[in-house]
Amino acid sequence: MRTRMSLALLIVSGLMLSGFTVKQDRNMNPTQSSNDSIEAKIDSLLSIMTLEEKAGQMNQYNGFWEVTGPAPKDGDAALKYEHLRNGRVGAMLTVRGVDQVRAVQEIVVNESRLGIPLIIGFDVIHGYKTLSPIPLAEAASWDLEAIKKSAAVGAAEAAASGINWTFAPMVDVSRDARWGRVMEGGGEDPYLGSKIAAARVKGFQGNDLSDPLTVAATAKHFAGYGFAEAGREYNKADIGTSTLFNMVLPPFKAAEEAGVRTFMTGFNTLNEIPVTGNEFILREILKGKWGFDGFVISDYASIEEMVVHGFVKDEKMAAKKAVEAGVDMDMEAYSYVNEIVGLVNEGKLDEALVDDAVRRILRVKYELGLMDDPYRYLDAQREKEVVGNPAHHEAVLDMAKKSIVLLKNERNLLPLKKNGQNIALIGDLADDKNSPLGSWRIASDDNTAVSVLEGMQKYKGNKLTFVQGAQLVVGEESFLTEVNFNTTDKSGFPAAVKAAKNADVVVMVLGEHGFQSGEGRSRTNLDLPGVQQELLEEVYTANKNVVLVLNNGRPLAIDWAAENIPTIVEAWQLGTQTGNAVAQVLYGDYNPSGKLPMTFPRNIGQTPIYYNHQNTGRPEDPQPGADMVWWSHYMDVENTPLYPFGYGLSYTTFKYDNLKLNKNQFEMGEDVQVSVDITNTGNYDGKEVVQLYIRDLYGSTVRPVRELKGFELVELKKGERRTVNFTLTEEELGFYNNKGEYLVEPGEFEVFVGGNSVETLKTSFTLGEE
Ligand code: BGC
Repeated sequence: MRTRMSLALLIVSGLMLSGFTVKQDRNMNPTQSSNDSIEAKIDSLLSIMTLEEKAGQMNQYNGFWEVTGPAPKDGDAALKYEHLRNGRVGAMLTVRGVDQVRAVQEIVVNESRLGIPLIIGFDVIHGYKTLSPIPLAEAASWDLEAIKKSAAVGAAEAAASGINWTFAPMVDVSRDARWGRVMEGGGEDPYLGSKIAAARVKGFQGNDLSDPLTVAATAKHFAGYGFAEAGREYNKADIGTSTLFNMVLPPFKAAEEAGVRTFMTGFNTLNEIPVTGNEFILREILKGKWGFDGFVISDYASIEEMVVHGFVKDEKMAAKKAVEAGVDMDMEAYSYVNEIVGLVNEGKLDEALVDDAVRRILRVKYELGLMDDPYRYLDAQREKEVVGNPAHHEAVLDMAKKSIVLLKNERNLLPLKKNGQNIALIGDLADDKNSPLGSWRIASDDNTAVSVLEGMQKYKGNKLTFVQGAQLVVGEESFLTEVNFNTTDKSGFPAAVKAAKNADVVVMVLGEHGFQSGEGRSRTNLDLPGVQQELLEEVYTANKNVVLVLNNGRPLAIDWAAENIPTIVEAWQLGTQTGNAVAQVLYGDYNPSGKLPMTFPRNIGQTPIYYNHQNTGRPEDPQPGADMVWWSHYMDVENTPLYPFGYGLSYTTFKYDNLKLNKNQFEMGEDVQVSVDITNTGNYDGKEVVQLYIRDLYGSTVRPVRELKGFELVELKKGERRTVNFTLTEEELGFYNNKGEYLVEPGEFEVFVGGNSVETLKTSFTLGEE
């Protein structure tokens, strides 16, 4: 094996590798390093790389042994270790912490022939050690600055731990609450999803990718994973062209335009072709039409899974298909490292495709500054200062409060009075310090959330009595294994009922455990798990003053609660600062302003239910009350959702009026100016998400009944009135046809503005001549 010495010799012999890994070379020629274009450096490097080394750059392994400990002697770990030393690994995932990352980086830099540094990937889904709310909850804030900041906090902590690449944001539009991974995304809408995608990318990547407190981001899962049939994890996704271009792809395009450096494929098929082998979306759209010049990684082992799907005969063909489709890096399938060399040597795979993949990977490594200094992200002092920094706790607390959605406040039970009250706090989740951390939080310590109980205990003017009521989880709680939520034990009910009877107000924290959503957590039931519904009903019978605080990673079908319980607060899983955020909202120290990023169904049978649906040819009962059956409806539940997209209340109230356009007839290409007045008519200062929707009344493909096309977060003092302006341009007024072409068609449009997707003011205009 050639060593570092050999590399030095290669450089001396004029291969123009300046700016590359070896410190002394950088020192010898500092200016050349910054002046040489990255592409020229990559050309030089590619020209000396063996085919094995190229395939190595395209190979990513999962972390495998205590890297700072003794070298592994046998099994899989020994093989990975050997491959690291032989230049057959380009990236790692889940190795974390400065010491561990340094140890693995040193193996590659010091022992492999070319010493090309590894890029270190990690799932920073909603923070690293200090956890933000789950992404779906953050989406409910509609606050792009806060979301960007939250991503930046996660990036800083991860980068300080030696990580330079995150597998986030997940930008899969998802309409089906059965799918466990809805918790990881921005909800059901492509417009909001696109804005959030861009905000998260910018938060993770900052302005300079080589800044050691930023990481490269990944737009995942390209594409269609959020449409898994029946919400069952890893299931097929059949998506028509119009839905693909108008609903699924926009957030990915927005991420690309925001400069995201990598894309990840998914586990799913898209219209019968695994996305990991899908030339159409990867090569034609992403790398072709969109001109993406970063790299594409497979999902975990998704290359070899193409054999299991029944798409290719064996691993070799899987590798060939994936490279040809445009997957540049293989995550943990071993397919590239095993097969690429043979495929090229046998003339079955074009080496130019391999070179292109390696070029893309090296480009990102240069941009991250790793090629100049492989240890750039490794500073133990920085790690100590940044990870868990108190300022990060402030930031995630702020994000958590902004993510809370007030669903109902009928008897104005909220905000709670601060003195002289007897408050019963009921529910297993109320004193849980683990569940609020949510799913996908590998680097954080268990049981580190502030519980709702702890948050509420800080308000000392009231008497607080906590009762568990019923246990939520049977046995072990774990991210990696199936958790049993089917408790039947009701022995704690009497104590809960007794506490409720003695209380002025009952706060019940019910819902899903943090490990009940996320990957592999599909459900066929959207009720409150276990015996929680029964507990809720019994407590309500004892005391009607119930404030229900929901914890969940997906929309729940809580029709009984919505009908009976006077006050409902959607508190998702809010991360490290959960209890403080919930308590501050309950006590009115923070006025909630969140709005649902996903529709809540009345029951599971309505799923998938989403606001931007089509009208059908028979949308309404032709003779209401006459028992007509020939229209688009269910016999047993109405079509409307329990809570619509964009819905959320405040402790104050807002009035909308004076919706105006600058005119009602527009030329093609002209902008449409929209204005509306909003007044804070209630008793508190507050924030409102003013939402603008349009309906294109007819089109060459049928358009949805409403589409979000603008929103603004306005803060209004009590009694304050403000005019909010929007501009609709061709970007908002057009759509993709069934060939994937973007069109703006003449015709009539309706414009709706309001505080959710249903209760809106309405006006209309005509575009162009017909
Ligand atoms: C998930 C990805 C994730 C990867 C690495 C997979 O199971 O689908 O979203 O980034 O694992 O942890």
